[in-house]
Amino acid sequence: MVSLDIEALGARAEAMIGELSAISAEPTRLVRLFLSPEHRRASDLVARWMSEAKLEVFEDALGTVRGKLKGYDRGPTLLIGSHIDTVIDAGKYDGTLGVVAGIIAAEHIGRSCRRPPFNVEVVAFGDEEGSRFPSTLNASAACAGAFAPAALESCDRDGITIAAALKAYGKDADLIASAAYKPDDIAAYIEVHIEQGPVLEAENLSLGVVTAIVGQSRERVRVGGEAGHAGTVPMALRRDAMTGAAEIIGEIERIARKNFEAAMVATVGSMAVYPGAVNIIPSAVEFTVDLRSINDAVRRAAIAEMKAVACRIAQRRRLSIEFESLLDIQTVACEASLQERLSRSIEAIGCRSIRLPSGAIHDAQMMAQLCPSAMLFVRCRNGISHNPSEYADPRDMGRAIAALVQFILEFDLKAHQ
Ligand code: HGY
Ligand code: MN
Ligand code: MN
Repeated sequence: MVSLDIEALGARAEAMIGELSAISAEPTRLVRLFLSPEHRRASDLVARWMSEAKLEVFEDALGTVRGKLKGYDRGPTLLIGSHIDTVIDAGKYDGTLGVVAGIIAAEHIGRSCRRPPFNVEVVAFGDEEGSRFPSTLNASAACAGAFAPAALESCDRDGITIAAALKAYGKDADLIASAAYKPDDIAAYIEVHIEQGPVLEAENLSLGVVTAIVGQSRERVRVGGEAGHAGTVPMALRRDAMTGAAEIIGEIERIARKNFEAAMVATVGSMAVYPGAVNIIPSAVEFTVDLRSINDAVRRAAIAEMKAVACRIAQRRRLSIEFESLLDIQTVACEASLQERLSRSIEAIGCRSIRLPSGAIHDAQMMAQLCPSAMLFVRCRNGISHNPSEYADPRDMGRAIAALVQFILEFDLKAHQ
């Protein structure tokens, strides 16, 4: 059992997260996008922390910052990490907590006399949110050996492709394949993350162990109509892309609501209207759909139903309609033995925990394609996330780091070779 100063660990995490949160593209809200100048500055800060923690620092072809603590043996590596990119107008704990917790835990282990026989490597991914490019999880995909080269051609709002952004960031896309870890070299991946939901708070618990991570479909829908004068075109003669999109969006909500048993949720979070003038009937509307469920078959059937219903609406309204699939990531079960070990580590530091699913997606979902993966959830106030009022109590963060240190010290490499 490690005796760690929970308050000090939490205060350290809070200070580091605070420093990271000052790195934003905008002065009044937190925005840190993949391969942006802010990603560069945040990566440099993380690399500095890793060096100060006596980790060997390396940055891969997609900008993931990696900090390795060498074990006394050359056994497989235990990966610990999360992401440092953010949503638009983000909270400061989503992702950053997992990177900071990994650095603090690795530093503590490195300083203790109980250096493990295996390497511990902290990874800071830069593309988990998918806030800049349509595709997402590209950084962890590269590490997992699952990067889709087609993603290089996906463009951000300014028409910049990932390929061009990588080049501007000083990276060589030809080296992406070499960013992949060899499966035999990796024992497991562990991610500490705020829960982003209300369950731990309702249970009055600091920590939880994730059982499964929800599957997600992301689609872009384009509805085409005909621009016209808002005052002279009778309602019956219009081909209004906005009212067509509105009817389709209502149907998306109905489909999600009826699949409540599969814990389905659907969100239309972004929309663009063309030409976007008060007195012109919209000629085109483009919106995104984020649809999730713990049942992949039900999720994919819902996407098919959404497309069929949307086509019928478009036909009746004499509109055009196009769909673009941006993401289809399946539900991932967290490795049972890692869940058990995380639960025991939490107990060892004197805390209770529960097992719970994740309604958010995470890099752990992608890393599960490489190695056994698991997640440790930390309570967040009112379950709020993707919102600047996101907050995690430093004592809860300190408990998570203490549990992580305990997990590392007790990790049984043989069980994962
Ligand atoms: O959307 C999500 O679930 C994650 O926060 N990127
Ligand atoms: Mn996250
Ligand atoms: Mn997020």
